Amino acid sequence: SHLQPPTSQMEEVSLLRGSNCRAKGAAPGFKVAILGASGGIGQPLSLLMKMNPLVSALHLYDVVNTPGVTADISHMNTGAVVRGFLGQPQLENALCGMDLVIIPAGVPRKPGMTRDDLFNINAGIVRTLCEGIAKCCPNAIVNVISNPVNSTVPIAAEVFKKAGTYDPKRLLGVTTLDVVRANTFVGEVLGLDPRDVNIPVVGGHAGVTILPLLSQVNPPSSFTPEEISYLTSRVQNGGTEVVEAKAGAGSATLSMAYAAAKFADACLRGMRGDAGIVECSYVASQVTELPFFASKVRLGRHGIEEILPLGPLNEFERAGLEKAKKELGQSIQKGVSFINK
Ligand code: NAI
Repeated sequence: SHLQPPTSQMEEVSLLRGSNCRAKGAAPGFKVAILGASGGIGQPLSLLMKMNPLVSALHLYDVVNTPGVTADISHMNTGAVVRGFLGQPQLENALCGMDLVIIPAGVPRKPGMTRDDLFNINAGIVRTLCEGIAKCCPNAIVNVISNPVNSTVPIAAEVFKKAGTYDPKRLLGVTTLDVVRANTFVGEVLGLDPRDVNIPVVGGHAGVTILPLLSQVNPPSSFTPEEISYLTSRVQNGGTEVVEAKAGAGSATLSMAYAAAKFADACLRGMRGDAGIVECSYVASQVTELPFFASKVRLGRHGIEEILPLGPLNEFERAGLEKAKKELGQSIQKGVSFINK
């Protein structure tokens, strides 16, 4: 196609050889699509997924710039075969046959904005993309990054329900960056390598709905009240810290791409059948009375295999949970009514 002249040259060469280099070189693995692949998150995320040995085909979709991003990334000598798709008319081809779809499409925050301020634009984008998923790869596992995640995941669920394809086990909101931040900041305070620290972060993905459970830190450690207050606030406002530092140029993209690639890799390892894959994610849940909630989930061949209980909370965390639930309930309702209005 016009998108990939180098590919057709390559196909001509492989015809001369009487073989299809592409098929021959293609590693066994999963087919992954990234929707919003040309963006601040999308580009480094595409790079990281091209490096993932579990990926055999990588489809890069956006409404702008995918020919360039695809040509660039396709030169990496890793196993995944990369194809680019540009604009709405190519959405269905981008999605056809995918095992995992990652959605970082949509506008990011500027200083002074909350994630909810993005609702009006991003809700419609997520709806359109999920309609495509329901039509073309209804069994794919879906990772939603687009903000406000607290509302876009319920939006995706409603779109899938309408299409008759909804399986709550396959729809996951990406909150990994909150865990990545918590592990980093706690590592700094405790003087530990952040790779050796693990903090569950539950609730949702905006302000007070982000609840780091410091009492459950691994390795077990205790914190002073000052440390608890500093760490909780730094994790809850980590996104805003980056938005302000970027001063109008966007929100977290590099750490987010890292977090999204880490989460997608966990999904793929679960899909492959690895045991004991546990990550925090914002999912349809019965952990609280709310229909969606982020907590630890065990990932398996078909997505979520088990939602783990919250575990014991201290008084500070119980108070945080009550605050979180109030805001979360409203964000969920807003997402649901967007589709059912
Ligand atoms: P960006 O503006 O750099 O990139 C977004 C990309 O989406 C652009 O390339 C744009 O062309 C594309 N896009 C717009 N409409 C589209 C459509 N209808 N179909 C396909 N692609 C479309 O934004 P950035 O920084 O990459 O952020 C993307 C989203 O991720 C934002 O909503 C942001 O708030 C969210 N985010 C989520 C985080 C999380 O922890 N879940 C953390 C950081 C950002």
